[in-house]
Amino acid sequence: MSTVALKDVSKIWPDGTVAVNHASLDVGDGEFMVLLGPSGCGKSTILRMIAGLEDPSEGDILLNGSPVLEVPPRDRSIAMVFQDFALYPHMSVSDNIGFPLKLSKVDPGPRGERVGDVATALGIGDVLGRKPGQLSGGQRQRVAMGRAIIRRPGLFLMDEPLSNLDSGLRAELRNEITGLTRELGVTTMYVTHDQAEALTMADRVAILRRGVLQDVGTPTEVYGRPATLYVAAFLGSPRMNLLEAAVYVHLDRYIQLNFGEQALYLPWNDIRARAVAHYHGERIVVGLRAEALTPVAIDTPGAVFRGRIRYLEHHGHESLAYLDIGATAVVVDEIGGTAPEAETAGNGGGVLKNALQRLTGRGGTAVRTLETEAPSVLNSGRHNRRAAELSVRLAPYPAVAPGHPLAVSVRMDALHFFDERGGRIDVGWR
Ligand SMILES: Nc1ncnc2c1ncn2[C@@H]1O[C@H](COP(=O)(O)OP(=O)(O)OP(=O)(O)O)[C@@H](O)[C@H]1O
Ligand SMILES: [Mg+2]
Repeated sequence: MSTVALKDVSKIWPDGTVAVNHASLDVGDGEFMVLLGPSGCGKSTILRMIAGLEDPSEGDILLNGSPVLEVPPRDRSIAMVFQDFALYPHMSVSDNIGFPLKLSKVDPGPRGERVGDVATALGIGDVLGRKPGQLSGGQRQRVAMGRAIIRRPGLFLMDEPLSNLDSGLRAELRNEITGLTRELGVTTMYVTHDQAEALTMADRVAILRRGVLQDVGTPTEVYGRPATLYVAAFLGSPRMNLLEAAVYVHLDRYIQLNFGEQALYLPWNDIRARAVAHYHGERIVVGLRAEALTPVAIDTPGAVFRGRIRYLEHHGHESLAYLDIGATAVVVDEIGGTAPEAETAGNGGGVLKNALQRLTGRGGTAVRTLETEAPSVLNSGRHNRRAAELSVRLAPYPAVAPGHPLAVSVRMDALHFFDERGGRIDVGWR
């Protein structure tokens, strides 16, 4: 069995791209850890470093407490399923799955038995005699998985193994993968950019943005108490509503949160009131998930937003109303289709720049670095702000239509608060 530890690991490619930026992460024995983030955030690079296929530029990677590069490859007990896996086209499914055992000279008898067991667990027991060319994409993916797991590795590294499949098959295979790895007690690191996949499969999720680890925790922790605005925006469907609010403190009474023409009042006895009070006279970001909003009669008093429905979306089991409440939405880059900020060239990034200079042996190179100082989401103007459309859950066939007025009551204890740099405002916060 295996544990994995990343100690302050960075990876800077020779062209100056910072793929991983001071990441530290501990994966426990038998744990199912999901690495989640958008394309290019460094997920595959982390897996490849753990597999010993790439050297970190800085920091250490430990396998069972020993530096991975000091463990001879054959003793690492790592199996990896790549993003673009390949099978041996001329071999049958059975031979493909059994190939690692053949290499380690396991006799045909026991080999066939184990191939049968693994294939049955993966639901491909009936196609063992076929060649890869005679399989569906999903079946091929399972064969690749079978071949990786048959050696009973201590550590299973999977890089978007379901990315080529349709959504029904993905959901089915998710359960098979988590079932199989838990049954075998194999430590697993699983890469995906699909937040729903991450939340359903993981024991813990590590969320990455541009090489920087944003948050690590159980699905409940990262969803319920996201460490940063980015994590809040990335997780959940529909996406969390993120609104700009101006903060006014009425000492010992309440904190007024102004959203354009409308306001919410955070009672002074709310546990987070003092933390929010530091932002008196400033703007913060308030996050509200759809589950914090309940449609109510239009004249309901209390914590209520009122607006007009801009449009409705039907999802079968529910519908979503997008409500214009006259507030300003905050848009997080890389999420919701907004183009990422251009990576800045050669602007400081001290430690990384120094590391690169050490690596290349020269100074003054143009360094493509990730922003260590996040820009303000509230003041950067350009494309970060727009009129808010609050997503609200309604019944499958709602009695309202676009243009109708709608009021929603707000669960004040379910609000999330973030400062303008995207850090969580909370009490007892890390
Ligand atoms: N060999 C390389 N040389 C230079 N840059 C590289 C190399 N491999 C990857 N990169 C860059 O490093 C960054 C991280 O790449 P990585 O493959 O780890 O991303 P990823 O999170 O796996 O993305 P995806 O979801 O698209 O697979 C990207 O900016 C990528 O372009
Ligand atoms: Mg990748």
